[in-house]
Amino acid sequence: MSRLWIPGGRGMLGTRLAVDAAASHDVVVTDRDTDITDRAAVAAFLDAHHPECIAMCAAWTAVDQAEQEPDAAFAANATGPRVVAEEAARRGIRMVHVSTDYVFDGLADRPLTEEDPVGPVSVYGRSKLAGERAVIEQGGLVVRTSWLYAATHKNFVLTMLRLMAEREQLRVVGDQRGRPTSVATLSSALLKLIDVGAAGVVHVADDAGPRGISWHDFAVAIREGAIARALPMKTTAIEAIATSDYPTPAARPAWSVFDTAKYTRLTGEALPPWQERLHEVLDVLVRPHPPAPSP
Ligand SMILES: NC(=O)c1ccc[n+]([C@@H]2O[C@H](COP(=O)([O-])OP(=O)(O)OC[C@H]3O[C@@H](n4cnc5c(N)ncnc54)[C@H](OP(=O)(O)O)[C@@H]3O)[C@@H](O)[C@H]2O)c1
Repeated sequence: MSRLWIPGGRGMLGTRLAVDAAASHDVVVTDRDTDITDRAAVAAFLDAHHPECIAMCAAWTAVDQAEQEPDAAFAANATGPRVVAEEAARRGIRMVHVSTDYVFDGLADRPLTEEDPVGPVSVYGRSKLAGERAVIEQGGLVVRTSWLYAATHKNFVLTMLRLMAEREQLRVVGDQRGRPTSVATLSSALLKLIDVGAAGVVHVADDAGPRGISWHDFAVAIREGAIARALPMKTTAIEAIATSDYPTPAARPAWSVFDTAKYTRLTGEALPPWQERLHEVLDVLVRPHPPAPSP
């Protein structure tokens, strides 16, 4: 079994990838304990563990906070990937790095391919783009994804479910469009792309058609799925609002709909419909917990 190092392995994606990869790889997980911006620590880790491949899940993902703390965002999202990519290349280790739709300006109106021009409109987006470039320079693979969520960690689905249990009315942005992506999809896609030896940039997202969906559409589907599973629900109305009605420190791209044809070409596999993945996550949330072991 080849050894796979997952920096950021206790984050939302890393946690899932570590589980999925264990079937085919000897997985080594680190998180804050091995700081990706510390070259000596990264080099020492690589020399002690000799991974054949690295799946970089470590990142600064606090999009709004990045506007106030650009140095910290750039350290984790630009310096960290550069350090890991350079140390990996020096040792002949393959690297796959995860990036984001925030590298685009959001002004397009057709699905975004890997060749479309980038133009980030936030500190987070600029920091992620710098990280992408560092990894590509060293011959690595960059997998961009959008609207990532899971049954664990902080994400849109869990935030909506919490708010829906508390409030009768919700207001959700209806003029930003994209493709939600379950960590199950991304984790499986990363392993397939490693398998086929992909390099360069590849887009991965759940299938939401050529116009994607809005955050409002996503919230409506979450509510319907939650009601069908008898999850706690107070919300009776979800109003679609404009981005300008919900100001945030960081600007969001209005259009994040990825073209994922390259992924399908490389792997021979289609990406699953977003509704199917959402239902899987909601099912996990209603599954009864196993009984505690008796004392
Ligand atoms: N979440 C989304 O909606 C989304 C959308 C598109 C793309 N992405 C990309 O997908 C990837 C995975 O995202 P995610 O949501 O799984 O992120 P996450 O849950 O925030 O996990 C990132 C992990 O990296 C750790 N980390 C941060 N700085 C580090 C450092 N210097 N050294 C070592 N570890 C460090 C974090 O620790 P702390 O928690 O202590 O900071 C955290 O455990 C990221 O590249 C992100 O940019 C995410």
